[in-house]
Amino acid sequence: MTLQERDKKHLWHPLKQHQTHPNSLGIVKAKGCILTDENGNEYIDAISSWYTCMFGHCNDFITTKVYKQMQTLDQIMFSDFTHEPAVKLSEELIKILPENQNRIFFNDNGSTAVEAGIKMALQYYFNKGEKRNTFVAFENGFHGDTFGAMSVSGLSVYNGPFEDFLMDIKRIPVPNGNNSQVILKQLQQIVSENSIAGFIYEPLIQGAAGMKIHNAEDLNPVLQFFKNHNILTIADEVMTGFGKTGNNFASDEITTKPDIICLSKALTAGLVPMAITSCTEDIYNEFLSNDIAKGFFHCHTYSANPIACSAALASIELLQSDEIQKNIQYISDSHKSFTNKIANHPKVTTTRSKGVILAIDLKTNAGRYGTLRDQLLKSFMGKGVFLRPLGNTIYIQPPYVITKQQLQKIYTTIEEVLDTF
Ligand SMILES: Cc1ncc(COP(=O)(O)O)c(C=O)c1O
Repeated sequence: MTLQERDKKHLWHPLKQHQTHPNSLGIVKAKGCILTDENGNEYIDAISSWYTCMFGHCNDFITTKVYKQMQTLDQIMFSDFTHEPAVKLSEELIKILPENQNRIFFNDNGSTAVEAGIKMALQYYFNKGEKRNTFVAFENGFHGDTFGAMSVSGLSVYNGPFEDFLMDIKRIPVPNGNNSQVILKQLQQIVSENSIAGFIYEPLIQGAAGMKIHNAEDLNPVLQFFKNHNILTIADEVMTGFGKTGNNFASDEITTKPDIICLSKALTAGLVPMAITSCTEDIYNEFLSNDIAKGFFHCHTYSANPIACSAALASIELLQSDEIQKNIQYISDSHKSFTNKIANHPKVTTTRSKGVILAIDLKTNAGRYGTLRDQLLKSFMGKGVFLRPLGNTIYIQPPYVITKQQLQKIYTTIEEVLDTF
């Protein structure tokens, strides 16, 4: 029996309607930018397996460091113990994070990084004796699948069935260069009528919404508004962090820095799961007290797992290398040329790119969950490229180590597929 057949017996996949989509492709190997399926077919991983494997799959530099760590210290609870990989990782992260960040709190994945950020903000005010119970978030944002993260995300198939159990969130439009006065007016009203604990946002690029890009200059007044009103800001850099936008973090481009930052995905380069919620010293200080209840009682068993920390340390070292920085620049420049070219295609409505992220919106009457997405996915796979459109938006987010030929093949495949469907 094939993997695909055996899979159907016991497995339940995420984000899938099993009745209409019963098959899952069996993958047996991944190296660099290439995935190999159980029939020996190869695919270029053009989206870095959900934006994680930015240094290529099974990267030798990272796996060697991780293997060494595995032979020294595998796991130790992090509430009363510490260890070199966690301490070193905190030191390395603080060097590259925006300058106001000074504390590193560990989680397991993007959703729990967000969940911890939300709880930190709520308890920060609670410890001060202030009861704040509402957050502000952008329309159509995506922040994960736990209850807090679902609450701050825009309504969709992800959180619809749980709507009655979600926190009360005030939503504002994403700045588009023309609506700043409208947003600021709306914010003025929101803060006058509610006790806002925080504003959460995906800086510069809303990933799941379809890689929607907004400008730093337009976002900055929104962040400044919250600063002026003593409301914490939480940057969800789970997708944008670690080089995707051209800088180490999207927040580097924005003048007003967030109080809390959520990180995951590329943090450990796709090798093992881990996430981090970083914050300012001011937030941390508010949890210091002789009263035990003022501490942050939020913990995951695998917090600061030494193996995951070693993967993160190796990826940060690679990220800062000249070679990777040059590759990021090369991909970014290539994307700009390709977006200009493909913008004229009759099937295309809009194109955009930032750093290594490129998105193409297609002309269609089909809704986000229509059949077009499935047809495109099948056509791309048939041509040896793994691209997973978000509704009617095709996007690329390749590993930084992609070769010129592989990148060119992704572009050519998109053109060919658009010509045929
Ligand atoms: C911006 C953002 N935040 C949070 C998450 C949730 O991360 P995870 O799937 O690791 O829980 C995602 C996942 O795609 C994301 O893109």
